[in-house]
Amino acid sequence: MKGLWRHADLFDPLPSIQPTLGEGDTPLTDLPALARSWGLESLRLKREDLNPSGSHKDRGLVFQVASHHGASPRTHVISSSGNAATSAAAACAACGDRLVAFVSADTDPAKLGRIADRGGVVLLADKPVNFARYAARVFGLINLRGTADPLASVGYRSLGAEIAEAGADHALTFSSSGVSAEGMLDGFARRSATTALWSVQSGLCIALARALDADAIEDADSPAGRLGAKNPPGAEALAARLQAGGGGAIALSGSAVERGRAHLRSVGLQGSAEGAAVLAAVQDLARAGRIGGRVVAVITGAAHAPTPPPPVVALSSYLDVRAFFVDVLGLGPL
Ligand SMILES: Cc1ncc(COP(=O)(O)O)c(C=O)c1O
Repeated sequence: MKGLWRHADLFDPLPSIQPTLGEGDTPLTDLPALARSWGLESLRLKREDLNPSGSHKDRGLVFQVASHHGASPRTHVISSSGNAATSAAAACAACGDRLVAFVSADTDPAKLGRIADRGGVVLLADKPVNFARYAARVFGLINLRGTADPLASVGYRSLGAEIAEAGADHALTFSSSGVSAEGMLDGFARRSATTALWSVQSGLCIALARALDADAIEDADSPAGRLGAKNPPGAEALAARLQAGGGGAIALSGSAVERGRAHLRSVGLQGSAEGAAVLAAVQDLARAGRIGGRVVAVITGAAHAPTPPPPVVALSSYLDVRAFFVDVLGLGPL
């Protein structure tokens, strides 16, 4: 079986359709020189940036969209900082559904083009999270945003399972809402892996780190964690779960992220700011003696070359949203 569905035993119930973008089974890149200089037995990067849409979000969104197949109308909404919407657009296209993505004006223009290329309708919104929630409620649509859909974490079990297969004492991943970290923990548990998971955070989205360390510092200028979930539900419970498994959550400054970028470049990789943050966190946690042995650092997303933004519709009020869904998308309110 291909994609997520190689790990079908992790999913219950299994969706009635099993579309794939070719996600998952991403390679590991071994970094022996960095491992040696940081005192680790091994350091491998889990290359989620090589997923078809450029991030680990392919796993979560393929599972969500497949699970919601058959919902009517066949239009889903999402609010996203870009990567989740890109994966959602690809997954919807694979299932014959339509995606409407609400994005903020701060979203990287390269990402807007990638959503549109996959057939997603891109709406530039003053309040993306609230507008998507409103559209879902008024028109009876599925909201695919991680914190709005109880199925959002399930696909990431496959990432936990692949790291467990590779064998790791510690794994680090970048977290905003924490949804993917939660799925990875479930994947470890289902494979009886003892891997300790660390959530790396930065910018304004540091709820997990703050739950474990009241002094964790926000850095509004960090290139990672600028857009995302500031106060996701369940952050304290997830942080406690990370800690109970021997891991934790840490917040990194923007300058630490830049240091991580330099490490990525030194091994010939570009990687996203999130990936850079994770590599800097490996260095800091190793130096502090908090991680050791075999370490896997998840590079959750790719860095994309700048492309001109596609023409997008801008919406500034709930009335605008309603009018667009009725007049342009042809949907009727419930
Ligand atoms: C590249 C990248 N890494 C990590 C994350 C965080 O994932 P989550 O919201 O599941 O914590 C995101 C999404 O926000 C992302 O786009």
